Amino acid sequence: MVAGNGLFYPIFGFASLVIFIYMSFGDMRLGFEEGPEVSFVGRNGTQFVLDGKPFYINGWNSYWLMVQSVDDYSRPRVREMLKAGAKMGLTVCRTWAFNDGDYNALQTSPGVFNEQAFKALDYVIAEARRHGVRLLLSLVNNLHAYGGKTQYVEWAWQEGVGLSSSNDSFFYDPSIRSYFKNYVKTILTRKNTITGIEYRNDPIILGWELINEPRCMTDPSGDTLQDWIEEMSAFVKLIDKNHLVTVGLEGFYGPNDPKRLTVNPEDWASRLGSDFIRNSKTENVDFTSVHIYPDHWYALDDLCL
Ligand SMILES: *[C@@H]1O[C@H](CO)[C@@H](O)[C@H](O)[C@H]1NC(C)=O
Ligand SMILES: *[C@@H]1O[C@H](CO)[C@@H](O)[C@H](O)[C@H]1NC(C)=O
Repeated sequence: MVAGNGLFYPIFGFASLVIFIYMSFGDMRLGFEEGPEVSFVGRNGTQFVLDGKPFYINGWNSYWLMVQSVDDYSRPRVREMLKAGAKMGLTVCRTWAFNDGDYNALQTSPGVFNEQAFKALDYVIAEARRHGVRLLLSLVNNLHAYGGKTQYVEWAWQEGVGLSSSNDSFFYDPSIRSYFKNYVKTILTRKNTITGIEYRNDPIILGWELINEPRCMTDPSGDTLQDWIEEMSAFVKLIDKNHLVTVGLEGFYGPNDPKRLTVNPEDWASRLGSDFIRNSKTENVDFTSVHIYPDHWYALDDLCL
């Protein structure tokens, strides 16, 4: 009996250690390497396709996933959000893959990255994979929140290379364009520290959005923004041929399109330097977007009375 017990416990101890090791690594492998095959979402004409079949998007917008993943206390919200979305049958989440110079910034100055924030983005992507939710990742903001083009212009100014203090120099200043391209290259070639997959090779990423809601009001002809879109979409495709690319447009018709009078919310919308049709027709742009803010537009209407 005594001998039997003596033999049993060490074996049990060993067995539970093996199970523990299997569960620790098994979880990682199951979730991130040997999990269900994930394919890239592609495009055939005006149809999204996945594994040769039409792919329909039910999506939502949670811009905050990366920034909330940096701090331990808020990180669990990310898993909860993706879990809730997946449970509702949602298939795509749009989120920021940028934070330029703001709190918990990913890019702290041009070409300088905070590894802790990058690991937070790795985590967001790994969690998306775990929940089977694809991500539409946006690369910069037109607005000031999370840095945006204003931050890039300030950096260029601080480094003494900026051509102008106008926020719109983000689009035409060659130094700022190269800051942005360097940023894009770093993101696309990032190797995820959790999944081991380079972002450009990760099919859980639906695609890249060049910029959230671009406006270049200093050139209402639209030529400046169009030129930027052409250059940046081609640059993304040069590094990453796997993923779809979109601009991030609000959807306003430009000054030369007669439809601006019937489709745009108000006259001002045709003078922002963007053009839904022209911008979307760009060779390396795969799909487009429209942002609808009826509440704001009606409020503006009231102000104009
Ligand atoms: C694209 O769609 C067309 C029309 O539905 C179909 O005939 C064609 O096989 C598709 N091409 C690919 C590559 O899936
Ligand atoms: C740049 O944008 C910021 C935020 O929208 C604004 O406060 C600032 O006045 C703008 N600066 C210029 C030079 O346009």
